[in-house]
Amino acid sequence: MRIIETERLILRTLKMEDIDAVMNFWGDVEVMKYCGGAGTKERELKALQYYINMQKERGFSPYLTVLKESGEIIGVCGFNPPNNGYDTELMYHLAKKYWGKGYATEAAKACIDYAKGQLKIKKIGASIDPDNNASQKVLEKLGFTYSGMKWCEETNQDEPYFEMILT
Ligand SMILES: CC(C)(COP(=O)(O)OP(=O)(O)OC[C@H]1O[C@@H](n2cnc3c(N)ncnc32)[C@H](O)[C@@H]1OP(=O)(O)O)[C@@H](O)C(=O)NCCC(=O)NCCS
Repeated sequence: MRIIETERLILRTLKMEDIDAVMNFWGDVEVMKYCGGAGTKERELKALQYYINMQKERGFSPYLTVLKESGEIIGVCGFNPPNNGYDTELMYHLAKKYWGKGYATEAAKACIDYAKGQLKIKKIGASIDPDNNASQKVLEKLGFTYSGMKWCEETNQDEPYFEMILT
């Protein structure tokens, strides 16, 4: 199901058939360096099922992010479950080939607008590995503010947290 359209991107819900496409980023050691590590196909099939269920139960999830012009699948962007007092946590993972073109910022900005407009979400959190400068830059461009160090389940460490309160 198509959820969001931006100038260059389409964001749609994940399907089990997306497994080969998602392995291009979830299975890539470099992409997942700061996000819990690269997964096996077996692990990512479980992740897909988890996010498909999450979309049904909560009405939001991470979305497959596709280039409008070519139909290329470039990554995922969207919402992780509530955590640490936030209604959701923002997430974005792109295949390396598509870094540095403003896609993450474009996709995440549209997700924030969607969260505010359609989902009535009030508090979005985002954690980053302290060395993940590109991700921090994206959060700053989006207008997130630092909210302290908090525990991150995915990476098993205390991480700097950023937040956006939607009014
Ligand atoms: C983080 C990520 C999504 C950014 O995607 P992207 O489409 O390249 O992001 P954008 O182009 O919208 O913006 C990136 C910004 O960071 C800057 N940047 C990129 N690499 C950087 C680095 N190593 N140090 C500092 N800034 C950096 C870019 O210059 C850009 O800023 P600018 O617009 O002011 O020039 C992408 O690198 C990625 O998928 N990384 C792996 C997954 C990941 O770490 N996800 C986030 C947390 S789990």
